Amino acid sequence: MSHLDSLISEDIIAYLNTQENKSFLRFITCGSVDDGKSTLIGRLLYDSKLIYEDQLAAIEKDSKKSGTQGDKVDLALLVDGLAAEREQGITIDVAYRFFSTDRRKFIVADTPGHEQYTRNMATGASTADVAILLIDCRHGVQVQTRRHAYITSLLGIKKVVVAINKMDLNGFDQKVFNDIEIEFRQFAKALNFDDITCIPMSALEGDNVTTRSDNAPWYRGPTLLEYLETVNVDTDTLDHPFRLPVQWVNRPNLDFRGFAGTVASGTVSAGDGIIVIPSGKRSTVKSIVTYDGELEHAREDQAVTLTLDDEIDISRGDIICKKDDPIAQADQCQAHILWMNDNNMYPGRQYLFKFNNKTVPGSIMTLKHLVDVNDLSEKVGRTLALNEVGVCQMSLSHPVAFDTYVDNRHTGSFIVIDRQTNATVGVGMLDFALRRASNVVWQDLDVSKTERASQKNQKAVVLWFTGLSGCGKSTIANLVEKKLLDLGRHTFTLDGDNVRHGLCRDLGFTQADRVENIRRIGEVAKLMIDSGLITLTSFISPFRSERRMARRLVDKDEFIEIFIDTPLEVCEERDAKGLYARARRGEIRNFTGINSPYQKPKRADIHIKTVETSAEAAAERIVKYLDDRGYLGAGQFDGGPAVYTRGRLTKMSEMDVVALAESMGIEVSVGNPKADTIRKILNKQG
Ligand code: ADX
Repeated sequence: MSHLDSLISEDIIAYLNTQENKSFLRFITCGSVDDGKSTLIGRLLYDSKLIYEDQLAAIEKDSKKSGTQGDKVDLALLVDGLAAEREQGITIDVAYRFFSTDRRKFIVADTPGHEQYTRNMATGASTADVAILLIDCRHGVQVQTRRHAYITSLLGIKKVVVAINKMDLNGFDQKVFNDIEIEFRQFAKALNFDDITCIPMSALEGDNVTTRSDNAPWYRGPTLLEYLETVNVDTDTLDHPFRLPVQWVNRPNLDFRGFAGTVASGTVSAGDGIIVIPSGKRSTVKSIVTYDGELEHAREDQAVTLTLDDEIDISRGDIICKKDDPIAQADQCQAHILWMNDNNMYPGRQYLFKFNNKTVPGSIMTLKHLVDVNDLSEKVGRTLALNEVGVCQMSLSHPVAFDTYVDNRHTGSFIVIDRQTNATVGVGMLDFALRRASNVVWQDLDVSKTERASQKNQKAVVLWFTGLSGCGKSTIANLVEKKLLDLGRHTFTLDGDNVRHGLCRDLGFTQADRVENIRRIGEVAKLMIDSGLITLTSFISPFRSERRMARRLVDKDEFIEIFIDTPLEVCEERDAKGLYARARRGEIRNFTGINSPYQKPKRADIHIKTVETSAEAAAERIVKYLDDRGYLGAGQFDGGPAVYTRGRLTKMSEMDVVALAESMGIEVSVGNPKADTIRKILNKQG
């Protein structure tokens, strides 16, 4: 029975009091399983006697069966049990373990240590006070050590312990220890840690973990547990600005309306004046309610419900601040982003950004540079891959409230979410707001796009052709455009090969460049829509995500996706430009269909299978599609009878126009009356 168990059974009140008054330390261990991480955590739990007897019996038994330590207890089994569950997807990515000694309570974030799990490490580190970086003394400072140290500092942890482990395997050689310490300190100079403590250790044998080792008489510093029990982490957070991100509005009955959340920073008292962001509404705190009754004051980390003197509108995701220190807002900002997904980050691609309780769409406009974790130098790059960190400028669709990460770890951070898979693909730390947004205001023009389009007697729309190189996109688009021209419609075509001579001359065919290519085309197409044109775009546009982005830029009925579906073999067989042959010979890299992916549309508005349909028939079908849906406006003056499609007049003869106009009392002017008169008729028809 541990000392705590006996206290619990003898004097439960005394036990609770000692627990209540102890200070709290949160820490994280970084390193791979091979560095001895599990053994280290197991050793801490074991030596601080926090393993229940039945647990101990179980691992003693398992150690004999499957342990790696001969007759000794394999402490790693204590935590690896959980790791195994994790691999089967049973438990969450980060397990928080609680233990306590006579002097302090601890929470350790235990995170799987493989390279691909940097994301777990980041999750655990975002609330930790201390990081323990494990180094296997036989391997010294590794890339992974540098990466973990960098991320640790990025996430605002100021104190690190470098646990130089497995020292038993080199006979506690002081020189090895010193060399590693010097190398690490040299690297960490730029990382702004307040304190670095290096400890020679053997987690397996227990040296310098909880008890001092006789094997390293030259070491005069603390054991790991001494360090953890005494390190001072009471940074004074009371003077931080008050922030309460509202998690939910508590309205059990008409007489009570409270705003619940966890205080992210600072303090608040009954009677304080507050301001709500983004609405800017002001009021005064009436009461601070908790499960245990009302409080006079609340501080960081407390879960509270505030009631206010005034009935003001506050919703989930709003942030309550003190009235003279409101949180900043911006829709463009710079941040350090740690990428945590196998699918790279591409500037220009749309993601969701989740800040506190608010999620907004946006994109990373610019990747200013990547950080090379080996020497912390800046390197240029067009994309962020798994585990890479970059300084990014982002643009959001609405302003969000935020602090800089240095000021506030809660309100200064965000996560990046993939719009298709909903997976968390990155975490970000805000550096500052970019003021640019506030200077560029949307200029409203007096002539609207509807007016421009109806002047041309049509409805503006983008015909977005997508498909493999050589599938027939440009051929069909070309025919469609000619037919529209014959019908007197106003069009323009943006074509991949042409645009790449000018607007997109700087872009190649890497994924990053294609994302940017399509982003630019999407924006240009939007401008063309504003000018009232029927716009045809002919680009491979291989990624769903960018096609969707282009669709979102314009109104719902202004985008028609046309999939020109020609099997790869057929495109390759035709090979009009000889590019497939060259790609097969390895002369062209990243060639779509050969060594770069094409994501077929799942639900194109028009799906044309060129093996079954001639280009001419395809073009006919597209024009008919437009005509049937009223894009080609009213009045194709072919002398035939009036045609109504879905209740709307889509075709009529000149005689019909005159007759209808007269019956409605509209004057028909001489000269070129048609378009003008038809518009009046349509307006009258509603
Ligand atoms: S996209 O992927 O960014 O949409 P885009 O349609 O602009 O591509 O350009 C495709 C045209 O560029 C092809 O039709 C082909 O003529 C030419 N091209 C040259 N290199 C490549 C390549 N690696 N992959 C695809 N097309 C290429």
